[in-house]
Amino acid sequence: MSNFSIPSDILVIGTGGTIAGLKTVSGGGYQAGQVPIATLLTQINTKFPIKNMQLSNIDSCDLSESLLSKLGVQVRMGLADPEVMGIVITHGTDTMEETATFLEFVCGGSSRKFGKKVVLTGAMLPSDHPEADGPQNLSAAIEFAGKEDGRAGIWAVMGSKPIPGLALVKGHSSDTNAFFEETLPDDWIQVSNDLPIPPDNQWPWVEIITSHSGARPETITFLKGHGVQGIVLAGTGAGTVHHNLAPALERFIEAGGAVVRASRIGRGCISGTLANGRLTKALGTACLNPAKARIALQLALFASTQSGANPLSWQDYFARMVGLPGFR
Ligand code: SIN
Repeated sequence: MSNFSIPSDILVIGTGGTIAGLKTVSGGGYQAGQVPIATLLTQINTKFPIKNMQLSNIDSCDLSESLLSKLGVQVRMGLADPEVMGIVITHGTDTMEETATFLEFVCGGSSRKFGKKVVLTGAMLPSDHPEADGPQNLSAAIEFAGKEDGRAGIWAVMGSKPIPGLALVKGHSSDTNAFFEETLPDDWIQVSNDLPIPPDNQWPWVEIITSHSGARPETITFLKGHGVQGIVLAGTGAGTVHHNLAPALERFIEAGGAVVRASRIGRGCISGTLANGRLTKALGTACLNPAKARIALQLALFASTQSGANPLSWQDYFARMVGLPGFR
C-alpha cells in the first residue's frame, strides 16, 4: 500500500462575520458571528469532502493580532497536510482585506509552493436573511479552492468573483456587491519567502494617523511618548501630508520610528516620493491602503528583529512586500 494520499479535502475554517450572523430578536439589526461553521456547511452542497474548524466566531471589527497569529499557524498546517487540497476561511467582510494581506505575506509563498489555494469568503447579509448571500459565496469559495487551475495562492471569493488576496478592497459599506479588485502595479512580484508570524504578544505597535484639514501634531507626540513603533500616514490625495503633521512625523523618524505613506482615498497607488517634497524619508505604500499597509509594516518590523544569516532592515522588507523599485 502506498504511503502517499492524494489531497482531496477542503479545510473550512470559521472565524465569524455576517456570514455567521443572525437577526437580533428586538430591533432591525443583526449580530455577526453567531452560527457555527458546521451549521453553515449543512446549508450548501459540495462534491468535496470537508474538514471544518471553528477558530473563532466574532464580528470582524474585533479582529485581534492574536487571532491572526492563530489563523496563520492553522493555515500553514493545512497547507502542509497531504489530505488537504485547499483551504476556505469564512470571515467578516469589514477586516477581510487585512487578513488577506496578512496571509499573503506569511503563507502566500507556501501556498504557491504546495500548489494550493487559500480562499477567504463572507457575506453582506446575515445567515437568516431571506436573500442571504453567504451560502452562495461559501459554495463558490469551496469550488474555487478545489479547482486545479494553476492559480495557487491567497484569494477571496465574494459575489462568486475570485479576487487575489492582496488586491481585495471593500469599497462599499452595505451593497451586496461591496468588493472590488485593486490594480496591482505591473512590476509587483510576489514575495516567495513567507515572513515570520509574530507570536501574539510580539506584534509591533503600529497606528494609523489621518491627514485632514486642521490636522494637529499632538497625537504623534503622544504616541511617540508611549512607545509606538510605526505610523501609517493615511494621507490626502497621492499621500500628501498637512504641514502641521510633517515636522512631528519627521522627528518620529529621526528618533527611530517607522513611517509609511498611504492615501486615505483607498484606491490607487502611492509612489516613493511626494510632489510637494514633504516626508521624504517615509516609504510609499504602493497599492496598499492604510489598513493593509499597517499589517505589512507590522510584519516588516517584526521580520527585521529576527536574527538570520542575512538580516534586512524593515525598509528592505517593506519595499519588497509592496514592490517598490530599487530594493530587490
Ligand atoms: C463583520 O465584519 O464581521 C461584520 C460585517 C460583515 O461581515 O459584513
